[in-house]
Amino acid sequence: MLINHIINVFKYFFCILIFVLLSLPANSEMSVEEIIKGRKALFSKNYSTAKRVQALASKGEFDKAKSLMIEMSENYKTLLEYFPDNSKEGFKTEALPLIWENKKEFNDLMKKASDDMIKLSSLFEDADDVRATLTQMMWSNCKACHSKFRAPH
Ligand code: HEC
Repeated sequence: MLINHIINVFKYFFCILIFVLLSLPANSEMSVEEIIKGRKALFSKNYSTAKRVQALASKGEFDKAKSLMIEMSENYKTLLEYFPDNSKEGFKTEALPLIWENKKEFNDLMKKASDDMIKLSSLFEDADDVRATLTQMMWSNCKACHSKFRAPH
């Protein structure tokens, strides 16, 4: 009886060990490939969202435009985590090394882009020139960052 009990205890330990080993890779940090491809996907998504924002805003569909602006703002915040030190090269990244030499300036531009989308969402409806306001508070932030931190493409 005792021996059966001991065998059972070992079985449990064994199962737990297998479980832990299997779940380790899933819990470990994202690979460099996932990070670089992930940020490219987020930027591409923001680009298509920005185009939709522009289209919706000029059609006067303010509520839909607004929720997309908030989505873009959140994506920028997520992107702050997508530039760790080990993701400087590979996987056709267009991120320039200057990002890591001026990390604060880069992050500040990302935060400004995020904050501006929130500000934009509360004021664009009343703007005299919606198009100009979008240029100023949405598109100009892309350019400000790309011209310094993204390789020519
Ligand atoms: C604070 C900096 C920053 C801001 C703001 C920013 N970008 Fe970028 N963007 C980058 C960097 C850096 C890359 C290169 C990422 C890589 O290749 O690893 C990039 C890449 C891209 C790409 C290429 C993605 C791919 O598949 O290779 C697109 C498209 C893009 N950005 C669009 C935009 C648009 C549109 C905006 C504004 C609405 C914007 N970005 C705002 C820094 C920024």
